[in-house]
Amino acid sequence: MTRQFKRTTVTTALPYANGPVHIGHLAGVYVPADIYVRYLRLKGQDVLFIGGSDEHGVPITLKAKKEGVSPQAIVDRYHHIIKKSFEDFGISFDIYSRTTSAIHHKTASAFFDKLNRQGSFVEKTSEQYYDEEAGQFLADRYITGTCPHCGNENAYGDQCESCGNSLSPNELIHPRSTISGSKPVMKATKHWYLPLDQYEAFLKQWILEEHKEWKSNVYGQCKSWLDMGLQARAVSRDLDWGVPVPVEGAEGKVLYVWFDAPIGYISNTIELLPDSWEKWWKDPETRLIHFIGKDNIVFHCIVFPAMLKAEGSFILPDNVPANEFLNLEDDKISTSQNWAVWLHEYLEDFPGKQDVLRYVLTANAPETKDNNFTWKDFQARNNNELVAVFGNFVNRAMVLTHKYFQGKVPARGEPNDYDRQTMEEFTDVQNKVETLLDVFRFRDAQKEAMNLARIGNKYLADTEPWKLAKTDLPRVGSILNLCLQIAANLAIVFEPFLPFTAQKLRRMLGIDSFRWESLGRTDLLPVGHQLNPAKLLFEKIEDDAINQQIQKLLNTKNNNKATRENQAEASWTPAPAKVPIDYDSFCKMDIRVGTILQAEAVPNTEKLMKMLVDTGLDQRTIVSGVLEHFSPEELIGKQVPVLINLEPRKIRGIVSQGMILYAENDQKRFALMQPQAGKTTPNGSIIC
Ligand code: 2FM
Ligand code: ZN
Repeated sequence: MTRQFKRTTVTTALPYANGPVHIGHLAGVYVPADIYVRYLRLKGQDVLFIGGSDEHGVPITLKAKKEGVSPQAIVDRYHHIIKKSFEDFGISFDIYSRTTSAIHHKTASAFFDKLNRQGSFVEKTSEQYYDEEAGQFLADRYITGTCPHCGNENAYGDQCESCGNSLSPNELIHPRSTISGSKPVMKATKHWYLPLDQYEAFLKQWILEEHKEWKSNVYGQCKSWLDMGLQARAVSRDLDWGVPVPVEGAEGKVLYVWFDAPIGYISNTIELLPDSWEKWWKDPETRLIHFIGKDNIVFHCIVFPAMLKAEGSFILPDNVPANEFLNLEDDKISTSQNWAVWLHEYLEDFPGKQDVLRYVLTANAPETKDNNFTWKDFQARNNNELVAVFGNFVNRAMVLTHKYFQGKVPARGEPNDYDRQTMEEFTDVQNKVETLLDVFRFRDAQKEAMNLARIGNKYLADTEPWKLAKTDLPRVGSILNLCLQIAANLAIVFEPFLPFTAQKLRRMLGIDSFRWESLGRTDLLPVGHQLNPAKLLFEKIEDDAINQQIQKLLNTKNNNKATRENQAEASWTPAPAKVPIDYDSFCKMDIRVGTILQAEAVPNTEKLMKMLVDTGLDQRTIVSGVLEHFSPEELIGKQVPVLINLEPRKIRGIVSQGMILYAENDQKRFALMQPQAGKTTPNGSIIC
């Protein structure tokens, strides 16, 4: 049963203000939300579109420390960059504010206070790491140590970036504080917990029974959280950056960033509408929709609803159309690795092409599974779809009207069968697009919109009015009239998706605004209406521009590799010394200089190389596991140290008589050890 609502509150995840925003943000959250909001506004619905920056949390304090500036300086810098990027891309927020605002601090504090006073929290004391030199408790990210899984000595208290395992700080071997470098001690600290377990039954009923219509990726993730069983979650932290816990004696404690951030949606509404905000959050006839990425599902579908439920006076989200992730050229987008297309940089390289990116990101939206952005696909979609279909159709219709009818919309005669068939093809475009947008299928909805341009392009190509100008000008007028009506329909249907293009098109058509309900009609432009001069809606993107972008990414990849290698070298320590042996034991080893005469891979193995080695005493076969380190060609002709009196061993049916010695470096790669370059050392020389 579809409920009727009076208005819709749309929120978008508040991005952390510790870096600029990239195409992944735009594709996953902000473009779909903007399409949806523009669509609702066009339909004349009451809608409020809320955005803002998430300015608390440990990563911001870490970045500040690294740069030697205050956390406020960091968030000031990025808040403005992010806000401008959203404006530049036409994300039409009613307000874009921030969680360091006074209103937000007041709102989040009051929210906590109400829950605390009414006994919604459980207080618990636990032992956590404390830096005695710095005099403060340590957030997980402030502790490093050796990973118990892979031995990486620089694992963080919450995760090892080397093996990817999640950790808790007390699993780290040899923990160190990143603030003072000292060994932290365990100390008791009190925190406030939201007992999610108490909301489990309610959440199961509300989501699993009453919201079966949610996207399957969202519903599925909620189900697995609920099936696992919920536990109380701490909503405070020992940190000096955030909203202070409004309880006496709680100095040095702030609200956990994931507690205060979603309250930011409410604070921003209060900031915008101090007198009427409540109807957007408390009236059951308001529909609340959260646009987010998949990593935020648990917070928006489980934790925040439990907070709202505990508070008691708020509505709960009606839908949470979370998207999966967008990859870039087949690799995960990563801020720290600079593997991203940053929005502000895109606009420097492709000025005025906001809609091209909006179009491509929607065409490839990660709606049901992770998706991939490639520069080649970006170019192809621009050149083959926007330029060749949409732009080309509109341009030809405009230019021909100027050429034959002085830019005035010509009269339309009695339609023939083909005209009628064409009109029928798009009469229900509105219905089709709405049905898809209503269930957050933006990709398919945009495809339907593009289909209208294809219908127009085909009609123009099939009717070839330019060939009829000399013989049947009224027929040319009829054809162009229908083409211009289709162009006007394009200006309507693309308004939510490509707002800059729709505006440009309306200007060309000399119309200030169209009504969404007119979509599908063929009388949008009256006969005799004067058009403005034709301008190109899109332009071709050449290979050079694309190759430059690809090169930029390659440079990033190479830089990252070099940094990784330098870091590995810097942090590498040799393996510990083995137990001592006596001199006689050493003398038992007969190590000689030998020359590798032949080398070949052992068939059906991944590692083994079979070599024929001249030891000076004989020629013998030796098998070594070095295929991943050297090619046969790299080995043939090289002099190497050979342990010749090792007992022969059968390896994969081949008798190996001895062992070649290599050095293993910090990257676990083998290197050859050769006699002094330029001097001949006869095979058989003793190494001692
Ligand atoms: O994942 C993130 O980027 C978070 N800053 C999203 C917060 S959404 C909301 F709760 F504010
Ligand atoms: Zn590890």
